[in-house]
Amino acid sequence: MMFYDQLKSRRSVRKFKDQEVEKEKIDVILKSALRAPSSRSIRPWQFIAVIDRELLLELALCRDPGSTFLKGAPLAIVVAADKGLSDVWIEDASIAAMLVQLAAHDLGLGSCWIQVRERFHTEQEKAEDYIRDLLAIPEQYSVECMIAIGYADEEKKPHEENKLLYENLHFNQF
Ligand SMILES: Cc1cc2nc3c(=O)[nH]c(=O)nc-3n(C[C@H](O)[C@H](O)[C@H](O)COP(=O)(O)O)c2cc1C
Repeated sequence: MMFYDQLKSRRSVRKFKDQEVEKEKIDVILKSALRAPSSRSIRPWQFIAVIDRELLLELALCRDPGSTFLKGAPLAIVVAADKGLSDVWIEDASIAAMLVQLAAHDLGLGSCWIQVRERFHTEQEKAEDYIRDLLAIPEQYSVECMIAIGYADEEKKPHEENKLLYENLHFNQF
């Protein structure tokens, strides 16, 4: 299938079946992340695949309500990067995270981005510090996001072709 045809059915999925993601599929998703382009090919990212039920339940509490649905997911990929290695680690991490979502989609899985950077667990504690403690992430790494992944237990209609924001497209000049 052409990439664009496949992309048409991509939607954020927040409800998942009680079904694990096969190890082979997790491997393909993680290898896809490692194929991401990165500025000067520095590849500052780190990916943590979480399948442990208790950890997933705790990660789901990292932000209320933005991350709560993670408690029903069988897999989360935490995307972090060494901010000391690259001044554009946010872009590098985001591109890799998008590849995680696209690879998941290609494998028949649903996924949703959970924002971590610049978000808070409590008024005092950053969401990334809460995750850092849970997953023993060293201080030099910043957490950009988590991608919740699993077999979809909700059906979402594709975005309609005639409702895309064509007015945001420009040719040659704004
Ligand atoms: C940078 C970014 C941050 C997001 N953060 C969250 C989040 O914290 N929680 C969540 O449920 N969805 C989050 N999303 C998913 C968006 O809500 C979703 O992509 C948007 O509503 C469009 O829906 P669609 O993906 O089905 O097209 C995020 C998406 C992006 C790209």
